Amino acid sequence: MTDYIFGKKKATEVAHSIWKHVVKKGDAVVDATCGNGYDTLAMLNMVADESCNGRVYSLDIQESALQNTASLLDGLPDPDKKEMVKLIATCHSKMEEVIPRDVKVRLVAFNLGYLPGGDKTLITKSDTTRLAMEAASRIVASGGLISMLVYVGHAGGMEEYDTVEGFASQLSVNDWICCKLQMLNRPLAPILVLLCKRLVCWSNFVVAAIVWIVGDGLVVCVFRSVEADGVRPVTVATIARAPTFLTNFSEPRLYKMETAG
Ligand SMILES: C[S@@+](CC[C@H](N)C(=O)[O-])C[C@H]1O[C@@H](n2cnc3c(N)ncnc32)[C@H](O)[C@@H]1O
Repeated sequence: MTDYIFGKKKATEVAHSIWKHVVKKGDAVVDATCGNGYDTLAMLNMVADESCNGRVYSLDIQESALQNTASLLDGLPDPDKKEMVKLIATCHSKMEEVIPRDVKVRLVAFNLGYLPGGDKTLITKSDTTRLAMEAASRIVASGGLISMLVYVGHAGGMEEYDTVEGFASQLSVNDWICCKLQMLNRPLAPILVLLCKRLVCWSNFVVAAIVWIVGDGLVVCVFRSVEADGVRPVTVATIARAPTFLTNFSEPRLYKMETAG
């Protein structure tokens, strides 16, 4: 991030370093626009473990893009590693049809626009990008990330950026943290939009408990969560049978303290 601020790193490199904070060995991830395969290769290096458990689902609508990605992976010294990548010729708006339902997806990455070195008229489009973001938001696991690198310099790029920003802005603050990285004095530089799906963490959720004995060995418990990062607090009340160590202490007791001297 510091290198991006000082102009030493590109947005793609920043994206890769952010992914590393989310993705672990053995994870399943999606490259929604595999193109020439550089993002796929970066993801593969993050998920590949010795037992070949990691998976990269790499999607593109262009056959030539899938071939370029396959050629890049052919250059890997370990042929087993390549088997962890599933190359799929489909529109990313259909990702739910090709990625098995039981797969826990940690990252869905988009690198929008046209294939570098390819047909510049074949670009990602706002309507399918929006559908793909909706699908990605459904399949990405809690604690996972949707990463969108958006190019605004070509025709239709700014409209697509508005779509991406519009989608990110309306996501619930209870479930998502959405932000962007943008160069202010380079209006055509790519913009990195990050959508982080909040982790549901029960240990953070219950922070206060009031317990009292009702009688007959029953307890009333009131739990209240804290308000954090704009998440509304929740109160839950329940009645349960008290454990014996609590009922034994229900009689008032007087403790006598004796001091020496
Ligand atoms: C900027 S390139 C991706 C670069 C790539 N991630 C890399 O590392 O080389 C954008 C890619 O999106 C693909 N694309 C365009 N529309 C698509 C769609 N609806 N679904 C999936 N891929 C699409 C293009 O064919 C192109 O290869």
